[in-house]
Amino acid sequence: MKKVGVAILGLGVVGGGVYEILTEKREYFKKTQGLDITVETVLEKNVERALSRGVSKATIAANIEEVVSNPNVDIVIEVMGGTEPAKSFVLKALMSGKSVVTSNKELFAKHWSELEEEAKKMNVALMFEASCVGGVPIIRVLQDGMQANRIKSIKGIINGTTNYILTKMAENGADYDTALKEAQKLGYAEFDPTADVEGFDATYKISILSSLAFNSKVCIENVYREGISGIDKDDIAYGKSMGYTLKLLGIGKQSEEGIDVRVHPTFIKNEDPLASVSDSFNAVHLVGDSVGEIMLYGRGAGSLPTGSAIVSDVIFAAKHSENYYTPFKNNVKGNKATKFVSDFVSKYYVRMLVKDDAGVLAKISGQFAKGDISIKEVKQMSSEENLAEIVVITHPALESAMQKTIEKIVSLKEVVAVKGFIRIEE
Ligand code: HSE
Repeated sequence: MKKVGVAILGLGVVGGGVYEILTEKREYFKKTQGLDITVETVLEKNVERALSRGVSKATIAANIEEVVSNPNVDIVIEVMGGTEPAKSFVLKALMSGKSVVTSNKELFAKHWSELEEEAKKMNVALMFEASCVGGVPIIRVLQDGMQANRIKSIKGIINGTTNYILTKMAENGADYDTALKEAQKLGYAEFDPTADVEGFDATYKISILSSLAFNSKVCIENVYREGISGIDKDDIAYGKSMGYTLKLLGIGKQSEEGIDVRVHPTFIKNEDPLASVSDSFNAVHLVGDSVGEIMLYGRGAGSLPTGSAIVSDVIFAAKHSENYYTPFKNNVKGNKATKFVSDFVSKYYVRMLVKDDAGVLAKISGQFAKGDISIKEVKQMSSEENLAEIVVITHPALESAMQKTIEKIVSLKEVVAVKGFIRIEE
């Protein structure tokens, strides 16, 4: 039976899950995969934590050199997170001829090309299923199950923390701060929630996923990013009453105009399959020109779900002698020839607080008309004393035209404020 020795760098939540799966299912993998996978060594500064997971003292390495020089280690699993020292450690492992499996989206989104170059040089595997959408095998689907297709779009709820926050705001009418505190109490959101709530985590993931989907490197600089920290619960409630659900979406589209990749809060129709993905669950919706629609749903984070993706990569790497790498030009800045959409098209939801006087609506609609933006629906949501809240839903319009129109509307003396501005995907 083929023996496979692995090293785990980092025994936190994910590393612990990987260790648990590999040790508890050793006999199962022998039977089902014909592989005897053993954890040869772990690198974890917090020795107590490693021991509490059942790792023996002898298995704990003193430093990365000890890991990469261990002849029994075939595959190094990096689950430390962050870019350093993770990047140096992964490079050392690759240079020593070890295959690498990582869950590190930030490292991968920022340094994919350098890591891939080293892996190619050494002819070892570089696998990253767990970097995007945790336990959901989206990368394997894009690489091995969709080759017959030109992928037109990829849309996903790819951050569980923000999905939990938005779900609570929609279900309980909670405001953003209250929902965030609840997410922190449950361990979904970090003490510093910036990476999740400002859309950085989703940006790393959609940059990786859309690169694979569109066969062109999409660098993080090519991704438009906006988070959820400015979302007002009133917009969620008004949207709901008009048939929309708010989600933080990662969106990638490919058309004649080029590649358009974004992360922002988005209203989707209540009937959209992504609208029913609630709490901390994740889902990705793909459209291929041959297969049509596909949707994958599951846990995007957590010890065992992410461990599941990592161990599947370990098994894949151990069973495939030929390593495959991205077929597209994957250099630091991507391929200059790739065309990106600079000004995307969307529908919009705009909420304005205005003076409740004759002719105000006409002035506002006049600005939309000047910007060549067609209005689909107008609704007065509330009025008190001499103020009214008006919501406008538009037909598809250019983002630049919409931004200019908002500026003009804000400068009208009849408009107190533009309180809500949310893109709509239908
Ligand atoms: N923090 C992420 C999330 C999981 O909330 O989905 C890891 O990317």
